[in-house]
Amino acid sequence: MQQATRISGVGAYLPERRLTNADLAQMVETSDDWIVERSGIRERRIAADNESSSTMGAEAARRALTSAALEPADIDIVIAGTCTPDGMFPATATRIQDALGISDAAAFDVNAACTGFLVALSTASQFVESGNAHRALVVGTETLSRIVDWTDRATCVLFGDGAGAVVVEAAPDGRPGAVKSFLLRSDGSHAGLLYAHGPASPNPNGDPLQALIVMDGRNIFRQAVTAMSGAARQAITDAGITIDDIALCIPHQANLRILKATARNVGLPEERVYVNLDRYGNTSSATIPIALTEAATEGRLSPGDHVLLVAFGGGLSWGAMVMEWSGIDTLGRAATADLRSTAASS
Ligand code: ACO
Repeated sequence: MQQATRISGVGAYLPERRLTNADLAQMVETSDDWIVERSGIRERRIAADNESSSTMGAEAARRALTSAALEPADIDIVIAGTCTPDGMFPATATRIQDALGISDAAAFDVNAACTGFLVALSTASQFVESGNAHRALVVGTETLSRIVDWTDRATCVLFGDGAGAVVVEAAPDGRPGAVKSFLLRSDGSHAGLLYAHGPASPNPNGDPLQALIVMDGRNIFRQAVTAMSGAARQAITDAGITIDDIALCIPHQANLRILKATARNVGLPEERVYVNLDRYGNTSSATIPIALTEAATEGRLSPGDHVLLVAFGGGLSWGAMVMEWSGIDTLGRAATADLRSTAASS
């Protein structure tokens, strides 16, 4: 049976420690001016030693459940987008499941680098649409600080840690569903432009491999603008609407120049593009659910609004989704309260 779906809860968690551009200038040869001009980033959050993708993801998920007025027992599938899992296995999603006390549910990770949340959300929506699951918890969570090369000024200035989560459930009878269209694409032939080795990487020369981010920034920049622009246009067409119908675009927060160039390409005014990368940097699969939580709780989304999500990352992987926002009743307030208390205490 085909069910329409909606997002009924949102939540985010950012670790307390802030690393500013001035702090970075003490670590590598860079400056606040250079980082702001080239990326738009002013500071990022860094996980504490006892935090990880699963602990941050679990906290974001708890907040999403609170905002949806649901209990852990209401969830029957947990999908985590992450490229910085707590370990090779078990999946970070199972650790989140355990932390929340969710039983009798499926839990697995998807790794599509910065597109991870979009892949996880598309997957969860289809589980709910098909009737295979009633309520899904979808998490994007990253501890990129542990795979950043802190001696490489071209990459270490870009990334940060954090987590966001949403609850996806069936829309009430007769109500329109949230997901109007989505498309996901990958091109593995450019894998060498952005990658990090892992413990099981092939190692024919026997040299110790470092599991750190390696990136061809200029090339990634060009690929990101082209892919995100094309995916955004296609998702809008597939949803049967025009760019003028998009109330807010929530893009993966990679680099302000990438976001501006993409918005210009698709003809979207900048004021309809949500930006928070100045405060958090690029948190990979966590950027979209964190931004969605902030946008919802700041009142930037009204029921019936068309929202465009668009992402790009290592793989290469990219995609876009058009959703109709169904509103989160009292729910946003819970997520806001938590989000603000996090901000205030840091
Ligand atoms: N501070 C000062 N100088 C720097 C720094 C730094 N932090 N980093 C690089 N430079 C220098 C370079 O060494 C180079 O010097 P040179 O001319 O003497 O060789 C000069 O600045 C220009 O370097 P470029 O790499 O050409 O600078 P560019 O304008 O391309 O900006 C950046 C670099 C910010 C990495 C940009 O290419 C970018 O954002 N690319 C997209 C990457 C991205 O967003 N990746 C995230 C993951 S993928 C995704 O999420 C989309």
